[in-house]
Amino acid sequence: MEKPLVQIRNLELSAATGRGEARILRSIDLDIERGSILGIVGESGSGKSSLANAIIGLPAGNTSKLSGEIVLDGVNLLSLDESGMRALRGSRVAMVFQDPMTALNPLFSVERHLVDVIKRRFPAVSRADATGRALAALEAVGIADPGLRLASYPGDLSGGMRQRVLIAMALLAEPDLLIADEPTTALDATIEAQIVSLLSDLKARLSGSILFISHHLGLVARLCERICVMYGGTVVELGDTAAIAAAPAHPYTRALMACMIDDQVSDAPLMFIPGEVPDPVAPVQGCIFAPRCAHVVEQCLRVAPQLRDLGASRKVACHRAGEIA
Ligand SMILES: Nc1ncnc2c1ncn2[C@@H]1O[C@H](COP(=O)(O)OP(=O)(O)OP(=O)(O)O)[C@@H](O)[C@H]1O
Ligand SMILES: [Mg+2]
Repeated sequence: MEKPLVQIRNLELSAATGRGEARILRSIDLDIERGSILGIVGESGSGKSSLANAIIGLPAGNTSKLSGEIVLDGVNLLSLDESGMRALRGSRVAMVFQDPMTALNPLFSVERHLVDVIKRRFPAVSRADATGRALAALEAVGIADPGLRLASYPGDLSGGMRQRVLIAMALLAEPDLLIADEPTTALDATIEAQIVSLLSDLKARLSGSILFISHHLGLVARLCERICVMYGGTVVELGDTAAIAAAPAHPYTRALMACMIDDQVSDAPLMFIPGEVPDPVAPVQGCIFAPRCAHVVEQCLRVAPQLRDLGASRKVACHRAGEIA
């Protein structure tokens, strides 16, 4: 089998806070396969954005410490300096953020945004060719009247349209890895559905891989071939979407799925998982999910479960997976 595009090994991220050291990512091991779409799901605060930012080399504040390995095509990104990382960003690795407004410069036209990406990635491209590519990219992301839109400024566009511009920018960069961090959270449900179907169409056009981050398991399941479930800065379950949907192995994944089913019944009260996400500053003994787990036994309070192989490229970090049905 071909080597994965990205291999993350023993990735740890911590940051100093007024209350002590916050452990934001704990010993993450994760592969991103080539040409695939991997979904990362977990409640708010589980470390999804921190993981994405670590991959793209944006530190979580100046007191943060990152260790372990993020190997992209044989190169450990953690060994690159800032200029090496900058060269990678927007070329081999591109990102679409939750809030498109912060990623667009209000003083630059749509054309300038798109052409800048092309010029950076392909310096030899002529101005006319760049404008042609920019137009084609706007068309590809479903923007009506792309010729007119090139002259628009971010402030003239709706949220959904800004997100499309960002996706067009990401497409133009032809990245090996496109990271989309909650790209639809700021949008209403109809636009969200449009953007999701757009990303799903783009899967076929992109030769690279996509890392799609959302707290919404239903969305991730619709779009992604594989799912990584995060909790408290750890990976608790990993596997093919269909296999996880058919039989979630981790109690946390099950709880997320239960929320999702209720979520679809519009007038039912929204179900949520009782308890709170762990405080990243608090010390953890045993399983990080134990305080909220319905299946907790004595061992869970003593020993942290390792991510173990269940076969069929499925992994779970739970002592009791397999025993509980
Ligand atoms: N620079 C920092 N200093 C201290 N704590 C931080 C820092 N950055 C992130 N954290 C903490 O790390 C945890 C993970 O945050 P992160 O933003 O990665 O979560 P997330 O899964 O993306 O959540 P959301 O769904 O809300 O976007 C949170 O508890 C957050 O408060
Ligand atoms: Mg986030």
